[in-house]
Amino acid sequence: MTPENAGAIEETVLTQREGRIAVITINRPQVLNALNKQVLTRLKKVLEEVESSPEIGAVIITGAGDKSFVAGADIASMAEMTPGEAREFSRLGQETFGFIGSMRKAVIAAVNGYALGGGLELAIACDIRVAGENAKFGQPEVGLGIIPGFGATQRLSRLVGPARAKDLIFTGRTITAAEALDMGLVEYVVPAAEVLAFARKIASQIADKSISAVAKAKSAIDRGLDLTLEEGLKLESEEFSSCFSHPDQREGMRAFLEKRKPRY
Ligand code: COA
Repeated sequence: MTPENAGAIEETVLTQREGRIAVITINRPQVLNALNKQVLTRLKKVLEEVESSPEIGAVIITGAGDKSFVAGADIASMAEMTPGEAREFSRLGQETFGFIGSMRKAVIAAVNGYALGGGLELAIACDIRVAGENAKFGQPEVGLGIIPGFGATQRLSRLVGPARAKDLIFTGRTITAAEALDMGLVEYVVPAAEVLAFARKIASQIADKSISAVAKAKSAIDRGLDLTLEEGLKLESEEFSSCFSHPDQREGMRAFLEKRKPRY
C-alpha cells in the first residue's frame, strides 16, 4: 500500500469524538457510501479504537451526505470475485458487523437515506436505529444473482421474524421508513434533517448512564437471544449481581439517595 493510498483509506471512515459519544461516518458519498474491502477493514479498526476508549459510552454510525446511509456492498468490487474471494469478503463483513454486537458500547445507526443490502445489514447489526423520513430499506441481493452475505439471512429474521425477512430478501423490494418502523426494523423515524441530532440525543441519554451497566445490559440481551428463557434468566442474575462489584452501583444509588446526579 502506498502512503497516498493509506491516506485515502483513512478518509473512507471518519471518527469524531463529542464528549462521551463517538460519531463514525462512512465516507464514500460518490458511490453512496458503498462498502468495499478497504472500508470494512477501516471500519473494523475504527470500531476497535472506539471500543478501547473507556470514556466513550455510546457510538453513532452514519453515512456521509444526505442521500445515503450505505447503498450496500460495492458491486463494482464484487463483479469479478471468485467464490473464494466472496467467502473472504463475506467473512470480513460478518466479522466487522459482528464486532458491533460484541462491543461494550451501545451503537446507534443514524440512517440518513438508502440502507440497502450491506447498508441494511450494518444498520441491523447496531443496537438501535434512527431513520430519516426519506430513508429507504431493502435487501436487493437476489436481483444481482446473490444472497445477503453480511448477516441479513440471520439477523433480519431475528429482528422482524422469518416471514418478513423472507418477504424482503426474496422480493428484494425497497421499503419506506414508515414501513420499516411499522415492522420493527427501526425504532425511530424523524425528519431527514434531524436524524443525526436525534441520534445524538439518544446517544447522550445512554452515555450519561453507567457505561459498565449499559454494557452488561447489552450483553445479557444479546447473549440471551441464543439461550433458553431459563438459561437467559440465569445469565441476567449473573450480570445483575456483578454490577454490585462495580463502583457505579454505589455511586448511582448514593446519588439517588442524596438527591444529586451520579458522577460516572
Ligand atoms: N456499489 C457500487 N456503486 C454503487 C452502489 C453499490 N452498492 N450503489 C450506488 N453506487 C454508485 C452508482 O454506480 C453511481 O456511480 P456513478 O455515478 O459512477 O454511476 C453512484 O453510486 C450514484 O448512484 P446512482 O445509481 O446514480 O444513484 P440513484 O439515485 O439513481 O440510485 C440507488 C440510488 C441506491 C437506488 C442505486 O444506486 C442502487 O440501486 N444501488 C445499488 C443498491 C444495491 O443493489 N445494493 C446491494 C448491493 S449487494
